[in-house]
Amino acid sequence: MAADRHLYRITGGVPLRGAVQASGAKNAATKQLVATLLTDEPCVLHGVPRILEVDLVLGMLAELGTEVTWLGEHTVRVCTPKVTSTSLSSSYSGVNRIPILMMGPLLHRRGETVVPLPGGCTIGKRPIDFHLAGLSQMGADIVDGTRSVKVRANRLSGAHVHLPFPSVGATENLLLAAVLAKGTTVISNAAVEPEIVDLVLMLQKMGALITIDIDRTIVVSGVSELGGVEHRTVPDRIEIASFAAAAVATNGRIQVRGARQDHLITFLNALRHIGGEFTETEDGLEFFRGRPLTAADIETGVHPGFMTDWQQPITVLLTQAAGTSVVHETIYEDRFGYAEQLSTAMGAEIELTTKCLGATACRWHARDFLHTAKISGPTPLKAADLVIPDLRAGFGYVLAALVAEGTSTISGTRYLERGYEDPVAKLAAVGARITTQPA
Ligand code: EPZ
Repeated sequence: MAADRHLYRITGGVPLRGAVQASGAKNAATKQLVATLLTDEPCVLHGVPRILEVDLVLGMLAELGTEVTWLGEHTVRVCTPKVTSTSLSSSYSGVNRIPILMMGPLLHRRGETVVPLPGGCTIGKRPIDFHLAGLSQMGADIVDGTRSVKVRANRLSGAHVHLPFPSVGATENLLLAAVLAKGTTVISNAAVEPEIVDLVLMLQKMGALITIDIDRTIVVSGVSELGGVEHRTVPDRIEIASFAAAAVATNGRIQVRGARQDHLITFLNALRHIGGEFTETEDGLEFFRGRPLTAADIETGVHPGFMTDWQQPITVLLTQAAGTSVVHETIYEDRFGYAEQLSTAMGAEIELTTKCLGATACRWHARDFLHTAKISGPTPLKAADLVIPDLRAGFGYVLAALVAEGTSTISGTRYLERGYEDPVAKLAAVGARITTQPA
């Protein structure tokens, strides 16, 4: 992965006040860019966040023959009249999870493809067995290598695929494969995150036939072709929650334009349990502290549960709440690695345990993974020099620095900037004392 563009210097202890605009969701826009491969007609996407991850995906598409034109700051026109290559260069191996989602579209366009594998990362193993098993059920011939996977299929056929766990990526992969497959595909135990629903809306506009049942069953009736589309990506509920946590943790008040309450129901409940509040504004939501902060028990889960990507800012917020909180991470086995720097360098009181301390015994039960955190507070945080290990931990560190007395430096900012649009300008706009220095 590329080097940091710059480091951040943050002087904390200032309540953040003001307004920011929510960006489009990284985890929707990047998949929608992949979906444009399903047609040879032009597609126009609005609300695309200007983040490193989008640049990466556009680079991948360009390698496959996609013409990319930015029509405005957040509007991009992409068109792939002809898929000129069936493989992506190995430089994309281990980079992100997008190439594996291209398998279905590339099979439909060219009958074969070789895509780089995503590789492990600092939050857990993140295998792709569900993706490959589902595509195999749909008739794909798969040769799984160490760095790439080779897939062939004359035409994919509909199948009944039951996912062992409601995986976001596997659901998207199967959707993208099923829309042009022969016959009907049923994906049961599917993920139904708002970003997936947004992908379904886009595919439906392109001509796809998809139904989502309330029991996590998605039924896709394959069609023979899809057309161009104009679509606006949903706002990023992870970025919105991050700014909400920042408002409450610093005892400030931040209005996030574009924030949607219907995508944040579970988050808002958790925020209120801790002492945060929100009010609806003309074009979004405003977040602030409603009362002194108190401990809460939180368990991450699949939608409509509490997102694993909200876990990091909430954990930092809980260091400022009175009492002992429990955060039980049930999606990823290893998503608390970032807590160590908070404890050792900043003075947070976070104890990790392998036990499931939430309402349910999760998939990581009795498997030796430190996946539950006990957080005691309130603890004044000390400024520190922090190194970001992954994207969502990145905002957690920024938030910790915003709360801490003194000036912290943060490196590893390339991870944060993969998923947050212009975080420095947005934080400065709400009064954060943040500057950058060359890396
Ligand atoms: C997506 O990852 C997001 N990434 C993640 O956000 C997010 O945390 C996650 O969904 C959960 O909401 C993107 O959208 C690019 P999963 P994804 O498949 O699709 C296991 C961020 O920072 N699993 O729902 O990879 C897996 O190991 C990122 O923006 C298998 O075992 O997540 C995990 O425990 C981080 N086999 C669980 O399922 C499989 O084949 C959920 O993963 C697939 C998944």
